[in-house]
Amino acid sequence: MTHVVSFINLKGGVAKTTTLVQLAETLAFIRGKRVLVIDLDPQTNATIALIGETRWERVDEAGQTLAQLFLDKIHGTQVFELERAILHGVSNLNLIHIPDDVTLGPDVRYPRIDLLPSSIRLIEAQDRMNDIALRSHHTISPMDVIRQAVSGVFGRYDYVLIDCPPNLGYITQNGLEVSDFYLIPTIPDRLSTHGIPQIVKTISELRRMRRLSIRCLGALVTKYQVASSIHKRGLETLPDLLWRAFEQSGEPVAPLFDVRIPQANATAEAMDWTNSPANFKEKYGRSRSGSQQMFELPILLADEFMARLEAATALTS
Ligand SMILES: Nc1ncnc2c1ncn2[C@@H]1O[C@H](COP(=O)(O)OP(=O)(O)OP(=O)(O)O)[C@@H](O)[C@H]1O
Ligand SMILES: [Mg+2]
Repeated sequence: MTHVVSFINLKGGVAKTTTLVQLAETLAFIRGKRVLVIDLDPQTNATIALIGETRWERVDEAGQTLAQLFLDKIHGTQVFELERAILHGVSNLNLIHIPDDVTLGPDVRYPRIDLLPSSIRLIEAQDRMNDIALRSHHTISPMDVIRQAVSGVFGRYDYVLIDCPPNLGYITQNGLEVSDFYLIPTIPDRLSTHGIPQIVKTISELRRMRRLSIRCLGALVTKYQVASSIHKRGLETLPDLLWRAFEQSGEPVAPLFDVRIPQANATAEAMDWTNSPANFKEKYGRSRSGSQQMFELPILLADEFMARLEAATALTS
């Protein structure tokens, strides 16, 4: 079964992309899962982290990015080709030897991450999304482009992870439309958590209006600083904030993930494609965070992510 999850927060810089890439790599290379990353952010951070600048320039020039998909719908062109645009076996960990004891599905030879890349040209598309409805004589909704053009391939993967820009505009809504769940990464401070009630309310309304099945998988604390009194206080107030946000929207209250991602240079550095790590341990750091080695954290997070998805899916089906 495929699980489709959007990563969203209205606040920028809360580690949505870093967490998504880390999870994608852990699910693929440590847990042997098939993962598709969909980059819906014009900043293209997930794309650059997974394929580097040079390869991105080539695919952008060839018009094989999601920006082109939206621009095709706006201009009535047909440059984007889905099967060409999907980049197979991305991530600088893909070059590394896979242990024999990783179990794979019958149709894959190696665990891998595929990517539908983004482009800065998504900004151009973002401002003209209403033109999609006009050009198609209202046969295509501006929220429905990803569903129509891309969701057909989701069945090839165990997990589809969607990186959203820090807003709730049409492009983000395209991601929410095809998602079973959304995850809210947040730094435990006032500015980062401020928009959570707005996210919950908007997605709840969208779910009703568009008859979607999307639910919140939970909130995840990122860039946590143990020594910060602000973060300590933020962590204490977060369950109550979540409870109020979901109660007000008449939604089941979503949990706070047990795993917290600490603020650590190793995590930020891991996003640099040019680093060429020798293996997963090296990529995610050999330093310690409390009693744990840094590279153990993404594994704990991936396991919690998988377990919560299984439990939440069983509950809603
Ligand atoms: N655990 C961490 N420890 C230290 N730095 C981190 C950590 N996670 C992310 N960062 C850094 O914080 C910054 C923001 O991270 P990231 O780009 O993942 O956030 P984002 O929420 O996706 O931002 P945006 O809203 O702009 O898309 C980056 O410079 C990143 O390297
Ligand atoms: Mg981002």
